[in-house]
Amino acid sequence: MTTYGSFPGTRPRRLRTNPVMRRMVAETRLHPANLILPAFVREGISEPVPISTMPGVVQHTRDSLRKAAAEAVAAGVSGIMLFGVPEESKKDALGTPGTDPDGILQVALRDVRAEVGDDLLVMSDVCLDETIDHGHCGVLDAEGRVDNDATLERYAEMAQVQADAGAHVVGPSGMMDGQVGVIRDALDQIGREDVGILAYTVKYASAFYGPFREAVASSLRGDRKTYQQDPANAREALRELALDLEEGADMVMVKPAGPYLDIVARVADAADVPVAAYQISGEYAMIEAAAEKGWIDRDQAILEALTGIRRAGASSILTYWATEVALKLKDQ
Ligand code: PBG
Repeated sequence: MTTYGSFPGTRPRRLRTNPVMRRMVAETRLHPANLILPAFVREGISEPVPISTMPGVVQHTRDSLRKAAAEAVAAGVSGIMLFGVPEESKKDALGTPGTDPDGILQVALRDVRAEVGDDLLVMSDVCLDETIDHGHCGVLDAEGRVDNDATLERYAEMAQVQADAGAHVVGPSGMMDGQVGVIRDALDQIGREDVGILAYTVKYASAFYGPFREAVASSLRGDRKTYQQDPANAREALRELALDLEEGADMVMVKPAGPYLDIVARVADAADVPVAAYQISGEYAMIEAAAEKGWIDRDQAILEALTGIRRAGASSILTYWATEVALKLKDQ
């Protein structure tokens, strides 16, 4: 037989012959412990409200959120990331519900901690877009620009009330300069050195956040390009990483995940802390929509997308499928 390179002596297909072989040689494994469930809780509703652009995801009531948290624990999920949606009439120019101890996010943090104790890492979003009337991630100055340093003061107070309400970990997601350092300081000042910071270190100005804006009833007009990163940039991500590590981030996140796997890989190479990636609303919606049309195999596509994010180097993945996937992984 003619030889072509090392063929026919070398045949990689031998390692793919059957499921047990493939399982043994798999280089990447997904485990329930890798998963974090993002969840929305809305004030003033008596039934969960479906989010039409994210089939299967709801805005929770306080009760249904507790239940979802308990289910996540039972499935072996590691964490839950909470987003609060206050009553529309309570939103204002400062995002006051975000620092009100009785604001929906703080109420939900207490509820969930009462439900899960330390069996689930309870995390909360530190950002103003859910509570502010214009929908930006920060407060505005007289010219209508997002005011970085004034916003930091709000974030500091938010992190403190979230810690008081029971957050194990806070997640600053607004991409303000200095946010990690200011929040670390604010937590330490109230004696909460124990509360961790999962920094949204690399967050791109992405079209794939679209469905999330419905989920949190955001009123944003315009875009977030003066604070979120340009999708064209990769070296800038490493600069953000260096800054967040200097400021005291315990874990760093890349977001979105799927379209930015090269960034996940570069950050994982460069970081000496755990790396998370957020598979966002649009990534979720694309798979659900294509599957609903019968164009792709839903379950396989979900596992493939999540495995890709793990393979790129993320040890934690925020995904709206966390509980469902964790249950499936448990059965295997
Ligand atoms: C900001 C925030 C956003 C998401 C999480 N935190 C929205 C944004 O930056 O526009 C998006 C999450 C998703 O799309 O699933 N608080």
